[in-house]
Amino acid sequence: MSLKNCHNIADLRARARRKLPPAIFDFMDGAADDEVTLRRNTSAFDDYELLPRHLSDVSNVSLRTEVLGQTIAAPIILAPTGMSRLFHHDGELAVARAAAEAGIYYSLSTSSSVSLEDIAAATSGPKMFQLYIHKDRELTRELMTRAKDAGYEAACVTIDTAVLGNRERDLYSGLTVPPRLTLKSLLGFAMHPRWGLNVLTHDQLSLPNISHRVDAVSQDAMSIIAYVNDQLDASVRWDDVAEVAAAWGGPFGVKGVMSPTDAVRAADAGATAVIVSNHGGRQLDGVAATVDLVAECVDALQGRAEVILDGGVRRGTHVVKALALGAKACMMGRPYLWGLAAGGEAGVNRFLGLMRNEIERDMALTGCRTVEEITPDYIRRRPTQWPRNY
Ligand SMILES: Cc1cc2nc3c(=O)[nH]c(=O)nc-3n(C[C@H](O)[C@H](O)[C@H](O)COP(=O)(O)O)c2cc1C
Repeated sequence: MSLKNCHNIADLRARARRKLPPAIFDFMDGAADDEVTLRRNTSAFDDYELLPRHLSDVSNVSLRTEVLGQTIAAPIILAPTGMSRLFHHDGELAVARAAAEAGIYYSLSTSSSVSLEDIAAATSGPKMFQLYIHKDRELTRELMTRAKDAGYEAACVTIDTAVLGNRERDLYSGLTVPPRLTLKSLLGFAMHPRWGLNVLTHDQLSLPNISHRVDAVSQDAMSIIAYVNDQLDASVRWDDVAEVAAAWGGPFGVKGVMSPTDAVRAADAGATAVIVSNHGGRQLDGVAATVDLVAECVDALQGRAEVILDGGVRRGTHVVKALALGAKACMMGRPYLWGLAAGGEAGVNRFLGLMRNEIERDMALTGCRTVEEITPDYIRRRPTQWPRNY
């Protein structure tokens, strides 16, 4: 299936699956334990129903909105994802360029495979730097200073990674982090020679934001990933977040909030945006779907911080539902990576075009001309289905 014949996100995923060795596809696609939260993140949107209001002149629909201190062209933010060059040799550069062209925020991960400075130099669109607070606090401070110097408009700190989630697909495929190459994963690479050739003929995979802190003898990408995992700091507390937020001094998100209590704590710590996220189900399995927490977090915050929904968004209707529940915007991760794997920058453009079209059409069909018009009046929880003979 060519890119232009990909008519929705599921088509992009199918194309990505064909292009990537299974171990790499599973690393991107998979989640923790039984992947219950991964599935719930998307299926929980079905528990909400839109209540359209017709005949409201929707001849002009605008997706423009404001979030994290910037006006963006659509209520979508590309989530931070590490090591994007695993999926296409252009990696984060391709994604950041596509986001800039579409006029939306791109979030760059601490664990990116292109440096934060190279991304800033190559694109002029709004950018957010995602920070992991490392045991190496010197490095943590240095990353924030570098992001500020490079002109990033916003920053966020991810709080759901005290330890790494249990991703069993990676154990079975042999691509553990750090990876252990098995006969099976090597066979997968051999069956996808173009991917292998691209990896071999382009710059070596690395984590350039942090690699200077790793011993020079172990600069290969995977020993650096091992270093990152070793650096996850289980002792991080809200005081540390407050310190980072104060040092940043601009639009600041806390990513990984999964309770109204933590939403308030994040605002207390100085967050201007609360990113309701369970890391796409990759950390703790069995937590709530993010869409089910949006309204509660909005209520608890009383306008003290914006709420951004992250996880499970696959359709324009999902975005409209999240906004109707009170979110300012939606973050998306895997869907743009599927686009990247499916066709590099053109694939990410295709993903963004599909999302834009879907949101625009769904807003028109709901009867909303602007993002501000999408209010709780347009949504309800699906009534409980009682058995017929009840
Ligand atoms: C391959 C991959 C790598 C990720 N790396 C990071 C990361 O470095 N930092 C982070 O905060 N979240 C990371 N995430 C989580 C995403 O930011 C986001 O929370 C998640 O993908 C949202 O769910 P969705 O994929 O259903 O949209 C990663 C997700 C994936 C799929």
